[in-house]
Amino acid sequence: MLAGGAAALRAAAPGRGLRSSAARTAMPSWVIDRYGLNEVLRFSRDMVLPAIRFPNEVVIKVHAASLNPIDLSMRSGYGATALNMKRDPLKLNSVENEFPLTLGRDVSGVVMECGLSVSYFKPGDEVWAAIPPWKQGTLSEFVVASGNEVSFKPKCLSHTEAAALPYVGLTAWSAINKVGGLNQKNCGGKRVLILGASGGVGTFAVQLVKAWGAHVTAVCSNDASALMKELGADEVIDYKSGNLEEQLKTLPLFDFILDNVGGSTEKWALDLLKKWSGATYVTLVTPFLINVDRLGVADGMLRTGITISSKTVKHLCKGVHYRWAFFMPSGPCLDEIAELVDSGKIQPVIDQVFSFSEVPKAFLKLEGGHARGKTVINVINKK
Ligand SMILES: NC(=O)c1ccc[n+]([C@@H]2O[C@H](COP(=O)([O-])OP(=O)(O)OC[C@H]3O[C@@H](n4cnc5c(N)ncnc54)[C@H](OP(=O)(O)O)[C@@H]3O)[C@@H](O)[C@H]2O)c1
Repeated sequence: MLAGGAAALRAAAPGRGLRSSAARTAMPSWVIDRYGLNEVLRFSRDMVLPAIRFPNEVVIKVHAASLNPIDLSMRSGYGATALNMKRDPLKLNSVENEFPLTLGRDVSGVVMECGLSVSYFKPGDEVWAAIPPWKQGTLSEFVVASGNEVSFKPKCLSHTEAAALPYVGLTAWSAINKVGGLNQKNCGGKRVLILGASGGVGTFAVQLVKAWGAHVTAVCSNDASALMKELGADEVIDYKSGNLEEQLKTLPLFDFILDNVGGSTEKWALDLLKKWSGATYVTLVTPFLINVDRLGVADGMLRTGITISSKTVKHLCKGVHYRWAFFMPSGPCLDEIAELVDSGKIQPVIDQVFSFSEVPKAFLKLEGGHARGKTVINVINKK
């Protein structure tokens, strides 16, 4: 539904601070001022209220956020070269201008202000979004997003539940649909293997391909087996009980593999695909950011380009497709995900919920690994 264009126009205040909080100039946020371990996380009551700078932006009051492995990586400075290039391509600002940096990519909350060209949303709308990593994050009272990154929150979910889905949902959507080419129409009966099925991306991916009619084999630890079955997996393989490659070789070949684990997996996983039938392996664990960190922008991108091209050609000669996928912010894709959620086909899987004061604890939890779905932060205190 198109929401109140006129109201949105009236609400617009480009280049200004948040009008509805006009008496205030600061907001609480969790920030980092340098890269490092958990001790770099700092609670600040004095972060400047975000301003709408472009007419397509909206300001969202964050009700809930969630953490992803990228938050741990960004806290440690991983990917900083590429992200800083995106933030400041002409290097107009001084070095380390990204600080204080707010982490957190997922938001479920309420629209407070809309830019002049925003007609789809109006103040008061309940929305969700995943904010790209080159922008200030969601561990904050307010966040600014482009209108095209935002979507109406699924009606059947609370903010806490909704915050568990956008980043992992859009990443899985990018890998499975945009890169892998699977969709509701062509996925029926396809044999899909999900490696690393018990984490944030995996729990979403299992449900998505199942909703589209695939036969799903999920690879995870034994203790996540019941969860996988609940989410619809047809077969569950425990990667810790014996040689995984040998276990998987006893199964019929696959049409599609999503690799959330990386490392040595890709040395053998492509042999599990059907040959010369369009079968595709997509991995989310790529060396792109690390190459740019280590080699600089030009050489890092060149090295990345050479690596992906040579692997693609090598595997194409063997009759299978090899691909990399990345998170892509997208309101329209979130609209499609919201429909699947509201129709009961996808549900958020929440590992643990923390309060806003417990953000460092939540980072430690994520750092401990063995995620079973998502680590969520209630930014607005629910008493
Ligand atoms: N390219 C991108 O843009 C992009 C975007 C999002 C995520 N990613 C990457 O994708 C990966 C998954 O993300 P996520 O959010 O799902 O992470 P997550 O929530 O931390 O989940 C990782 C899951 O993998 C399981 N696991 C670990 N080793 C495994 C193995 N050898 N075989 C099977 N399962 C294993 C873990 O549980 P146990 O250890 O208990 O088995 C955990 O459940 C991460 O490496 C992340 O950095 C990339």
